[in-house]
Amino acid sequence: AAPVLYEAENAVISKGVVESNHAGFTGTGFVNYDNTTGGYIEYTVTVAQAESAKLTFRYANGTTANRPLDISVNGTLVSDNLAFPGTGAWTTWKTTTITASLPAGTSKIRATVAGTDGPNSDSLSVEVAGPPDVIPP
Ligand code: GCU
Repeated sequence: AAPVLYEAENAVISKGVVESNHAGFTGTGFVNYDNTTGGYIEYTVTVAQAESAKLTFRYANGTTANRPLDISVNGTLVSDNLAFPGTGAWTTWKTTTITASLPAGTSKIRATVAGTDGPNSDSLSVEVAGPPDVIPP
């Protein structure tokens, strides 16, 4: 079914700031992690039934170093050190996708800086097979 988009700037942000100085983001900006271990962006996602979901993270990393994030669902790690490699420029946005199981109802999907730096983060998009579809925010 259709993916539902969650803008990082509308999520819960810990140790990060919303910026808009690198073009190509969607919505009103992106989150620049404060480049400290443990900073996170937490998205609230609701589905009607327990099911597998495709989680697509859109990001930019203008360095040549990987900036991994730990992805958790309701406090359970579902992707350890998910890679966010360099995209070539801070204005070049790419995506990385994982699949995770979501329980019925509302989940907290958290993307936490695993090393010392995080990628600039634009959004999370969530897609389930559906119907029923992801319940939009
Ligand atoms: C630059 C860039 C920021 C980025 C930062 C970083 O300062 O302008 O958008 O977040 O590098 O290395 O994290």
